[in-house]
Amino acid sequence: MVSRAVARIDLEAVRSNCSRLRSELSDRSELCAVVKADAYGHGAEACAGAALEGGAGGLAVATAAEGEQIRGAFPDCRLLTMGALTAVELDVALAARSEISVWRPDFLDLVAARARALGVAARVHLKLDSGMGRLGTRDPSEVLALVRACVESDDLEPAGVWTHFATADEPGSEFFAEQLGRFEETAAAVRAENPAVTAHAANSAAVFREPRSHFDMVRCGIAVYGLDPYQGDPAERRLRPALSLHSYVADVKRFEAGDSAGYGRTWRAPADTLVGVLPLGYGDGLRRGLSNNGEVLIRGRRHPLVGTVSMDNVTVDLGPETDVVPGDEAVVIGAQGEEEIRAEEVARRLQTINYEVTCGISARVPRVHG
Ligand SMILES: Cc1ncc(COP(=O)(O)O)c(C=O)c1O
Repeated sequence: MVSRAVARIDLEAVRSNCSRLRSELSDRSELCAVVKADAYGHGAEACAGAALEGGAGGLAVATAAEGEQIRGAFPDCRLLTMGALTAVELDVALAARSEISVWRPDFLDLVAARARALGVAARVHLKLDSGMGRLGTRDPSEVLALVRACVESDDLEPAGVWTHFATADEPGSEFFAEQLGRFEETAAAVRAENPAVTAHAANSAAVFREPRSHFDMVRCGIAVYGLDPYQGDPAERRLRPALSLHSYVADVKRFEAGDSAGYGRTWRAPADTLVGVLPLGYGDGLRRGLSNNGEVLIRGRRHPLVGTVSMDNVTVDLGPETDVVPGDEAVVIGAQGEEEIRAEEVARRLQTINYEVTCGISARVPRVHG
């Protein structure tokens, strides 16, 4: 049975990637699976369940609404909301019993007040900006002061101290070591007073790159989904891509030399040829930047995308003679026969990263988990 467009997600791959990541860690360090942005486009609830089965000890999201969704499906798991929260979102996160991130004294006061009003003790992760230049305080002494404030408050518990790397995926980067050094000092100072606080810093790239970055917990997203944190071949790190994106050939038509396909006539057949039409487009997340700049697999062979990608259709040059017929399956990301198009290849063509490719598959595309 072919479908107009479907993303198939192999949950066994998610489980296996989690145990692969855990094999990099010492017993001290736990895997937290990052399932924000609908698990990087893979489907948050199904992937969260598979990650927990694969050995993840907790889950992380970016937003309060994501946390609420995860809490609804997993009443007992450890859950961290990593992003900034408005006052309204804070209540949602606390009601979802999510641990939350804090780096400003005024926000800590608000958290304490809302926790008291809701009758919960808020579990707080104090964030050091060790060099990412986004969320977090740059002042290590402020992290310590915030931890102490949590200890003194009846409404707060210091649950974590953490940071995020800017260049973990750049193998030659010295800045990574600088950030790690700064965080090591702060984490040691916090843990000297509060040994139970979870120190965490590493994303997927850092896990493979530097065991010293593992601390008590690592926060991995991209590798959980079998995508390569360094934009190379996931197989080199024994990761298995979980997602494949499929469509089908809705029509095959004969083109004479000079005939054009699609808006703006950006491609004209250089010679007589056959053109296949796939009924998916940028409305599904097949980016317009792939116009005349991509390939799909049909009958186990690569075929070039020709013409401009439109919202709901794209055209493929099948060559002057073809066995391709309407109804054949087309693979946009994934394997067919001996051939494979990886998200990393699509990302390279679009001058972006695999993260954006899978996050960009739109809600119009059903996710089928198996
Ligand atoms: C704060 C934070 N931690 C961890 C991650 C997971 O990173 P990765 O998907 O590279 O493993 C992200 C994702 O962007 C993040 O924003």
